Amino acid sequence: MRNPPDRYLLTLQEHFPAAPAFRVDETAGWLSTPEAKNAPPATTNQSAQRIAFQRWFHFKEAFSPSFVTTAVETLGFLPDHVIDPFGGSGTTAITCQLLGIPATTIEVNPFLADVIRAKTTNISAKKLIGAAQAFRRSLSHTKADLELLEHLPPTFVESKDKHRWIFSEAFALRLSQYLKCIRKVQDADVQLFFRVALGAVLVECSNVYINGKGRRYRRNWQETQATPELLDSRFQTQFNTAFEDVHRFEGRPAASVNVIHGDSRIELQNIKTLADLIVFSPPYPNSFDYTDIYNVELWALGYLGSSNDNMVLRRSTVHSHVQIYRTAHKPTNASTTLEIAFKELQAKADELWDARIPEMVLGYFRDLERVLLESHRLLTARGKLLMVVGDSRYAGVLIDVPTILLELARAIGFTNTQVFEVRKMRASAQQGGSHHLRECIVELSR
Ligand SMILES: C[S@@+](CC[C@H](N)C(=O)[O-])C[C@H]1O[C@@H](n2cnc3c(N)ncnc32)[C@H](O)[C@@H]1O
Repeated sequence: MRNPPDRYLLTLQEHFPAAPAFRVDETAGWLSTPEAKNAPPATTNQSAQRIAFQRWFHFKEAFSPSFVTTAVETLGFLPDHVIDPFGGSGTTAITCQLLGIPATTIEVNPFLADVIRAKTTNISAKKLIGAAQAFRRSLSHTKADLELLEHLPPTFVESKDKHRWIFSEAFALRLSQYLKCIRKVQDADVQLFFRVALGAVLVECSNVYINGKGRRYRRNWQETQATPELLDSRFQTQFNTAFEDVHRFEGRPAASVNVIHGDSRIELQNIKTLADLIVFSPPYPNSFDYTDIYNVELWALGYLGSSNDNMVLRRSTVHSHVQIYRTAHKPTNASTTLEIAFKELQAKADELWDARIPEMVLGYFRDLERVLLESHRLLTARGKLLMVVGDSRYAGVLIDVPTILLELARAIGFTNTQVFEVRKMRASAQQGGSHHLRECIVELSR
């Protein structure tokens, strides 16, 4: 009989038909598969809607679970502990759990931290069936109450004095019933499961769509606004989808997953257990702010209650964007490549679309230096650190992210350092449009 991790790995891979993968060639190192080469940027999860657990929430910046399984395989032994300091939608955490490997992950966005917790909490299918029945009964006799949405910024809910809104009043009334009923669910794990299922359908039921620049109103949104019935049907479908995975993987290994909600620049310092694999994809320094991208879920589900909350969250994220002003510090170790890029950016200050970009770039590498410093303390002698990172370009100045990270990593004490280019990403218009930027895997060991 196969041992359970193999069986889970196989089942898992059957669910990954569309996910681009990376593989390791004995001589050439990490290579991208043809699917990965043609896939959109960010070591990606864009075609992941059919993949178990990945389909609980559309998180397009996730890497594919097979990247994590390949990373584990390249170690040549079963790791005792894996750490991912930029958890996102929890690809590392859930994949490790299914493989029977204890994992720790850190995620700064409280909604995403809950997505990871929901995926990695093994609730019994029977309990969820009972909870779904009780929830339906509860919805039918719970009164709508817009007070529950009073904390939302003015653009969220329709009212006579507004020209634009994200949710119609009829929809918001139904949403308030869902929120009330979810709060009434006694079992904390079940409550989390419902909240994440609701979060997964909010944007598709709203008048906006989200892209790299933030929120945009849908074309003809006034004529196509979501109805309360649409929320009912989307929620039901989403609930069933997630339930299917809970049911199918009910007998999964009980490997513990520690989900830490917080800033990895600080939280890593509190981790005591060393890891054989530290694997992550940090935000890229491309001025993409995850706080904006997941704003609808954060506000509507009550994770943000005021603009100050929003500011605090933004300040806790790495310097990958210029949406807020904050003082950035440069890395404490030297990187010649960073120094040259910084000077070039300063020389082209007039051409930059935001004057804070040079400082953001410095702050970005100081943040990752802090993560690398702690990772160096936490990585076992036999272990490996793998980072998926992407280049950026501003006013024609290339920010060669892997080279800068290698220089910093060597100064910190990593001795085996390698970079594998796995894909070219098309640059956004703000980054010069016509250029292709590399996405690379940086591999480090002690
Ligand atoms: C590229 S995504 C990671 C995706 C992840 N590999 C997955 O498969 O879902 C980067 C994540 O880092 C998070 N993040 C940004 N700053 C952070 C910080 N200071 N501490 C922890 N997480 C942070 C963002 O919220 C985002 O979810």
